[in-house]
This record gives sequence, structure tokens and C-alpha cells, in this order.
Amino acid sequence: MKQKRHRGLRDLIDEAQRMGELVSVNGADWNLEVGALVEMVCQSAREGKAPALLFDKIKDYPEGFRIFSGGTNSTRRLAYALGFPEPSNAMDVVRNYRDRMKQDFKPLPPVEVNGGPVLENIDRDDDVDLTKFPAPFLHERDGGRYIGTDVIVSTKDPDSDWINSATYRVMLHDKNTCGIWMSPGKHGRLIREKYFAKGLPCPVVISLGHDPLLFMAANQEIDYGADEIAYAGGHRGEAYEIVRSELHGLPIPAESEIVLEGEMYGDELRKEGPFGEFMGYYASEASMAPVVKIRRVYYRNNPILCVASPSKPPTSVTFGRSIVKSAMIWDEMEKAGCPGVKAVWCHEAGASRLFNVVAIDQMYPGHVKQAGLLAMNCHAGNYAGRWVIVVDADIDPTSTFDVIWAMSTRCDPPNDIDFIRRAWSTPLDPLLRAPPFENNRAVVDACKPWGWKDAFPATAETSPELREKMRRKYPDLFG
Ligand SMILES: Cc1cc2nc3c(=O)[nH]c(=O)nc-3n(C[C@H](O)[C@H](O)[C@H](O)COP(=O)(O)O)c2cc1C
Repeated sequence: MKQKRHRGLRDLIDEAQRMGELVSVNGADWNLEVGALVEMVCQSAREGKAPALLFDKIKDYPEGFRIFSGGTNSTRRLAYALGFPEPSNAMDVVRNYRDRMKQDFKPLPPVEVNGGPVLENIDRDDDVDLTKFPAPFLHERDGGRYIGTDVIVSTKDPDSDWINSATYRVMLHDKNTCGIWMSPGKHGRLIREKYFAKGLPCPVVISLGHDPLLFMAANQEIDYGADEIAYAGGHRGEAYEIVRSELHGLPIPAESEIVLEGEMYGDELRKEGPFGEFMGYYASEASMAPVVKIRRVYYRNNPILCVASPSKPPTSVTFGRSIVKSAMIWDEMEKAGCPGVKAVWCHEAGASRLFNVVAIDQMYPGHVKQAGLLAMNCHAGNYAGRWVIVVDADIDPTSTFDVIWAMSTRCDPPNDIDFIRRAWSTPLDPLLRAPPFENNRAVVDACKPWGWKDAFPATAETSPELREKMRRKYPDLFG
């Protein structure tokens, strides 16, 4: 029987509770406490098992104005949201996602409806007051409160019907003004620049609480020209319902919790940042960024603000992102013609982007290089990458220990490491100090050398058959 799919965020919160993976916190202060707890709870959990957090009775705010974080940051919660069977480990979810992309994935364009819970309350023009929501001051060295972190910023390409939806942090300036930061090359920034080049403000809707699958699509590198709401709909197995925003007719997920509407202005700048960043540093200073003037706020009764807190990994989003990014890279490598890929893993310590490992069954000379360069340069793997390690299929890429062993014993550094120079990166890269923020990378061949791989010394370890026999004979020794 087909699993009944969730409607939105609230169904997934209920499911997290049923799984025993939801922690409720009452009475926390939006000023630093929420940020510290989001970071610390996730860091103290076992890998892949961090609970989601639901904050209520937040200091200075009415009961019911809640904050939620970590929606799909566990193996089980992510698998459930994606409609996959109960996984036994993260690679099960990677494999299911990649199989779906390979076999039967179809984006499902959103369906327009006349109303929905997001329209339960609408504040217009002078009634707009963003401070009514518990925007957290997340990290001690931040430059202000961030109302948008687990956020979906939707804009329309002025030259086509394309709606791009993406995660770009949103700083709270005052009751009706925000700042937004988009890294060079990001789709929303390319779209915004088209409006600014014509001397026009750029219309925008910003969802601040929503189905985690919409957030997943917004924060992954989906193709230029693709509609992330349709992409997320394809993964939910059911199209999202949307309503049209009052001012600009932009799509708003009908089940969203809080949505802002307004315009970004290229000629009105305000200081934005600094903000704790995903690589784990304050690498970019505060800068002057376009303001967003908010003229409409749509929100549900007892709204839930979704929060992510980038910082030194692991964070409340990195595990789920590692799974999805690994699957996307695997899929893109295969679509670019690389066979023999057995597994891909983007390590959380590399902020799910900077340290990616690909395991392959070597099939022909040059195969390793092809795999490494594709993993580094496909769309899902390109932005802000640093290391790609290619290992043989006997190495589990999720095992840091095994990966280091392969690098230590199968890689001859002067011959097996290639450097890629001047690639797509970001001001958030701590090694980059000035524009154009291009970075350098390494593709590491940690595979047995193709020319004599079959003559490579045998691995000195107990055979699987003997291991199994010992497990059966001495069960008490192995727990
Ligand atoms: C929690 C979180 C916060 C992010 N913040 C930003 C940001 O402030 N600016 C940015 O350019 N990218 C940010 N990203 C990365 C983008 O969301 C990601 O690169 C996405 O693919 C951008 O969408 P686009 O490909 O449509 O441009 C963030 C990702 C996450 C998970």
C-alpha cells in the first residue's frame, strides 16, 4: 500500500513526535538561547539521530508563536518525509533517492488553489510588524537577529515564467525592512540583477516556515531554470498547493506558516551581517546589501518559524543535506556517463560540500579521473567544493577511518592528486579574502593503481566468511 504523504510541516512534527525524535523546549530566550540549543542538541546526538526541536513560550512572545528546527536532519525523519521505507543507515536513503532520480522522478508543478491556512492572517502596509515573530539572535558574534535561515526566497525571472525558490539568509532590520544575502552566481541573485539592471525593484516572497521538503529543494543546487516547488512536489509524490500573493502574484505554499511579500531594492543598501556561516567561520564581514521592503505578511494561527543555525558543523541541517547532496552528485555523475559508481558521501565535517568521497568499481583506465572530475564539477558538487576523494568499492565512503586508510595506502601524492584552480566559490570561504572569490581544489585518487590493481597486495583482514563463523560461535564477544 502506498504510504499516505504528509500535507505539510505540522504532519511531520507529529510524526517526529511519534518516532520519539522531537524535543520540546519551553521558555527559551530568542536572544542567543535558541541558537545555542539548536547547535548544542544536534552536536551532542549520535550521527544521524539528532532530534528536531520545537520551542514554545519563547521569552517576550505569546504562547503558540513557535520555533522549529532540524526537520529532516535524521536518517529516519528524512526517509519518512521522502516516502522511503524505514532505512537502516544513511546510505539506504542516498541509494533510494538516487534510484528515484534515475528511474521515475518527475517534478510535479504546484497546483493553484483559492485559499489555505497561510491566509488565516494578513497584515498589510502600515500594519506590518516583523518583530511580532520570534526572530532569533543566533550566535554571539552575529550582527543582528535573523528572521530567515530555514527560509525559501521565491523570485520570478523577468524574461520567462521561471520561478526560482532558494535559501538565502534574511536579517531583520526593523518592523518592515529586511536584508538578504545572496552569494555570487546564485540563481536568485542572477534574477535580481536583471531587475536592478533595468532600474526596477525585484518582487519577492519569503517563506519562513514550511514543509522541510520545500526547504530541502530550496537549499540544494537544482538546475538553472527549474522550479524548486515542483521538484519538492515530485519528491513528496503530490503537487504542492499554492495561493498567489496579493501584490505580485508570486506562488505561496498554501500550508506555509509565515510568508513575507515585498520588493528588493538595488539602490537602497543597509549593513547586513556578520553571520555565523556554514563553513564554520565568520569569513565575510558585514557588507552593504539590498534592502527588502515588506508590504504584506501572511501567517497561520499559532505560526511556526523554521530556524537553521549555520556554524561549525555538524549543524541542525548538515546530516540531511549530506544525504541529499550525495544522492544528487551520484545521479549527476551517472547522467554524465560515468558507470560503476557504488556510493557517494559528502561528509558533514566538510559542511556537506567540501569533502566528498566517491566509491567506484574501476572498469577502464582513466575511470577514476572521470569520476573525480565529474563529482567535483557537476552542478550539485561544484559550488564551494574543496576535496573529492575517489576510493575503490571495498571502501565505505561514510567511514572516515576507511577513507583515511585508503588515502594512506593507495594514494601516491605527487602522482595521484590533481588541482583544479579558480573554481566557483563564495565570500564565505575562509581562505578567500577578495573578489572574485574563486577557490582551488584537489581531486585525490585513493584507488589501487589501474595498471596493476589486480596485483596490488591483498588486504590483511579476516575474511567475511570467517567473521560470520566467529560471530555465530562467540556471540557474547560481539554484542
Ligand atoms: C541553512 C542554509 C542557509 C543558506 N544561506 C545562504 C545564503 O545566505 N546565501 C546564499 O547564497 N546561499 C545560502 N545557502 C545555500 C543556498 O541555499 C544553495 O546554494 C541553493 O542551491 C541556492 O539556490 P539557487 O541554486 O536557486 O541559487 C544556504 C543554505 C542553507 C542550508
